[in-house]
Amino acid sequence: MAGLAGRLRIWWTICGGLLVSYSSEQRQPRRLYGRRTGRSLNKARQAVLNELLPRLEIEIPLSSGEGDLINPSALFPFVPHKTVLEIGFGNGEHVAAMMRTRPDDGFIGCEPFVNGMAAFLKTIKDEKNDHVRVWMDDAMEVVDHLTGDSLDEIYVLNPDPWPKTRHHKRRIISQANLDKCARVLKPGGLLTMTTDVDDLAEWMLTQAIGHPAFQWTAEKAADWQTPPPGWIPTRYEQKGIAAGRKQSYLLFRKTSESF
Ligand SMILES: C[S@@+](CC[C@H](N)C(=O)[O-])C[C@H]1O[C@@H](n2cnc3c(N)ncnc32)[C@H](O)[C@@H]1O
Repeated sequence: MAGLAGRLRIWWTICGGLLVSYSSEQRQPRRLYGRRTGRSLNKARQAVLNELLPRLEIEIPLSSGEGDLINPSALFPFVPHKTVLEIGFGNGEHVAAMMRTRPDDGFIGCEPFVNGMAAFLKTIKDEKNDHVRVWMDDAMEVVDHLTGDSLDEIYVLNPDPWPKTRHHKRRIISQANLDKCARVLKPGGLLTMTTDVDDLAEWMLTQAIGHPAFQWTAEKAADWQTPPPGWIPTRYEQKGIAAGRKQSYLLFRKTSESF
């Protein structure tokens, strides 16, 4: 019996040690609309993915009880002045530019598209990068595991428009996801959403105006038709502007104390 108890204890210790948290590669990926892979990666991008992703990717606790939530400030080797989440960063130009201009802040970048993540990691490989953590899957999985009232800013830049009516439920901005964003934003925290698709702008506006935790910061048309001061355009945005499309900049502040 003692032998069995001993073996069970060893097994328990191994399980406890190995399975307390997981990376995006260690479990069944979440259902996600949109692509995860594209052209096969060149050697340099594959190498940087192998080398940097395990170091920078967030480990998500297996259980999601109160005590298992991640305080984003604790993800960095210093206490960041502000904590910022970017959802669906594409090739990561925007988060990389923020990292360069805001070395005292901590950034979390989420992008399920492997080629986008590899491009971002290659960009920041030889730069200061101890103030970024990443997640190569559904950003809402990270949001679900963060402590409440813990982020200063959330960016959702040019999310997939899903133009067909029957696909609107796939849009990342929804009441359910706004509930999640409201939970993790600090009171006064900022949610920034952009798009150059009119129908999606109207959708995101309607969703956020109708949400009790958020207040639109715009006071006049120019506030949402022109970029806010210090704005860093993404490549997608620059292409749209070059093609004559108009970008909407929808900024909402979390007003309620907690949600
Ligand atoms: C149209 S692209 C825009 C990329 C970038 N934000 C820009 O403005 O250039 C939308 C991105 O959102 C990503 N995405 C879609 N669903 C997501 C989710 N649930 N979590 C995180 N990223 C997501 C896609 O992989 C894609 O790279």
